[in-house]
Amino acid sequence: MKKIRKQILWTAAVLFLSGCAHTAYLGFHGKSIKSFPEIHKSAVSDTQCLGCHDPDNNPQGPPTPHPDFIGCLKCHND
Ligand code: HEC
Ligand code: HEC
Repeated sequence: MKKIRKQILWTAAVLFLSGCAHTAYLGFHGKSIKSFPEIHKSAVSDTQCLGCHDPDNNPQGPPTPHPDFIGCLKCHND
């Protein structure tokens, strides 16, 4: 009986923490492309960004941890 309760609590804690981490992730801005303006000045679309940052396609820059996000510039342009 005691063991089951412990498991339930543990599951709840994990769900709670991952839920918060997700919200924090969306609230945070990533690093800005303005740290490398020469490389990025002509990039405007997600397709262009992924051309150099898609982890599955020979990335030239650091691979993005989230290739399926849309609107890269919303989070990486300031
Ligand atoms: C021509 C290839 C190319 C394109 C297109 C490109 N990047 Fe990059 N990006 C790079 C390279 C190379 C670096 C690494 C620069 C370095 O570390 O010297 C980089 C670095 C970054 C970084 C890390 C910045 C930091 O401070 O560490 C982010 C975030 C990033 N790019 C996002 C984007 C986004 C968003 C787009 C689309 C608007 C984009 N990139 C388009 C090549 C590209
Ligand atoms: C909702 C905001 C958001 C969107 C949209 C977004 N990113 Fe990010 N990105 C982040 C955050 C926050 C981080 C840093 C956290 C991490 O590394 O997991 C990050 C990290 C990165 C990194 C790693 C930088 C490094 O130095 O390792 C790259 C590259 C990147 N993003 C590229 C992109 C590309 C390309 C797109 C569009 C397909 C995109 N991001 C869309 C928020 C976002």
